[in-house]
Amino acid sequence: MFFTFWSGVFCGKIDFMAIKTIIEPFRIKMVEPITMHTEAERIDYLKAAHYNPFQLSSDQVIIDLLTDSGTSAMSARQWAGMMEGDESYAGSQSWLKMEKAVKDLSGMEYILPTHQGRAAERIIYTLLGGAGKYFFSNTHFDTTRANIEFSGATAIDLPIEEGKNPQLIHPFKGNLDVAALEKHILDVDAQQVSAVILTVTNNSGGGQPVSMQNAREVAAVCAKYNIPFLLDMCRIAENAWFIRQREEGFADVSCYDIAREMMRLADGAVMSSKKDALVNMGGFLALKDPDLAEECKNLLIITEGFTTYGGLSGRDMEAIAIGLEEVFRHDYLEYRIKSTEYLGRKLTELGVPIMQPTGGHAVYVDARTFYDHIPVHEYPGQALVCDLYRVGGIRAVEVGSVMFGKYDEHGAFIPAPMDLVRLAIPRRVYTQSHMEYVAEVFAELVEQKQSSKGYRIIKEPKFLRHFTAWFEEIV
Ligand code: F0G
Repeated sequence: MFFTFWSGVFCGKIDFMAIKTIIEPFRIKMVEPITMHTEAERIDYLKAAHYNPFQLSSDQVIIDLLTDSGTSAMSARQWAGMMEGDESYAGSQSWLKMEKAVKDLSGMEYILPTHQGRAAERIIYTLLGGAGKYFFSNTHFDTTRANIEFSGATAIDLPIEEGKNPQLIHPFKGNLDVAALEKHILDVDAQQVSAVILTVTNNSGGGQPVSMQNAREVAAVCAKYNIPFLLDMCRIAENAWFIRQREEGFADVSCYDIAREMMRLADGAVMSSKKDALVNMGGFLALKDPDLAEECKNLLIITEGFTTYGGLSGRDMEAIAIGLEEVFRHDYLEYRIKSTEYLGRKLTELGVPIMQPTGGHAVYVDARTFYDHIPVHEYPGQALVCDLYRVGGIRAVEVGSVMFGKYDEHGAFIPAPMDLVRLAIPRRVYTQSHMEYVAEVFAELVEQKQSSKGYRIIKEPKFLRHFTAWFEEIV
């Protein structure tokens, strides 16, 4: 059997049968008030934002589930570390701590700090990419694809078939289709393949995990054809938790050791520390190859900063070093994954269709199915995002035909394959009662969904329209 304890049942040494509620494994020392408002006020705010929640100001939002990126609450230890940040231009002590934390985890010799994930991506994909080159991945995240395509190269997604079916239950829907990978490599000629990238967990594919077995197989194919194997590791701790729960042979291995094992398979890694390093800003690039690292360092110095700070302050690096340690604590990861799953389960019980099983950092609602009375060209995902805000002050992001829809040469609308709404859960920020509240708002939406209307776009920029487009309700 591929996995032993799958079906939502816990394993391990703790007696989970005796535990009813998985509590937040922290106390709250400092609070940030949430501004409350009425539905009537929110209707006005939404109108003024042209029905695009990206245009709302944060004090108009009650529960902000727009992203899990850079929205984590830092621990008292991290804040204490911030005070010790060494802001020296060269040889900062905080850099040495961060470098050690990343080296220990990755087993890679060359670590380059960057201000966030996409800066690391820009450096490595500029150097590896270029016209005529190919990258293959389980799914390239938007910024990954953008950086690859900007270099002139082609990015091809090769998720397993199961990963494309929202309702299907499978333990590792984030896996890459290894047979398809080998076929594509032979089709384009291995020399033209710049890298294979495993995104763990697979954000664009629903926050779904990648198994160790899959990582091993991908590494073997890369070794066979002499192609660099890279990890997009921004949610690697969450991925390790899923491996520990679901993959045979890992129930007694720590999540830190699981992540180390996966990283040892790769030739390099790109990190957005805004996710699993539990900080608000930061990133890095980790590499094994000295020559490639040297070239990357040259680009780093030109665009980000000197090699001992990249685009970061000393205090940011101090917080990253501590965050990388805290994120692998099993009490934290259990709370983290279970609280996301809790929301997913609540919504499923209400009959709200979601991508199954719930991923690590977010619940993805299948808005096209939920709002099946709204035609796809009237953006059911945008309708749901607006309703969530109007009814509950909840901000979520549409991942569907607003974000990925296109027009053909005659101006006809081409919808995205799915219309999803992502509820991304910031780390250590919200409690169970906040999640109860989100579920209650969904319960109201279930009641009133037939009265929900579609939207039309009345103004849009050429690129990345979801950030700034203006909408109008179709009455
Ligand atoms: N890779 C993945 C898988 C990501 O999810 C992100 C960011 C990046 C790379 C880029 O990192 O933002 O630090 O430059 N994801 C955010 C999100 C924006 O909301 O999912 P960054």
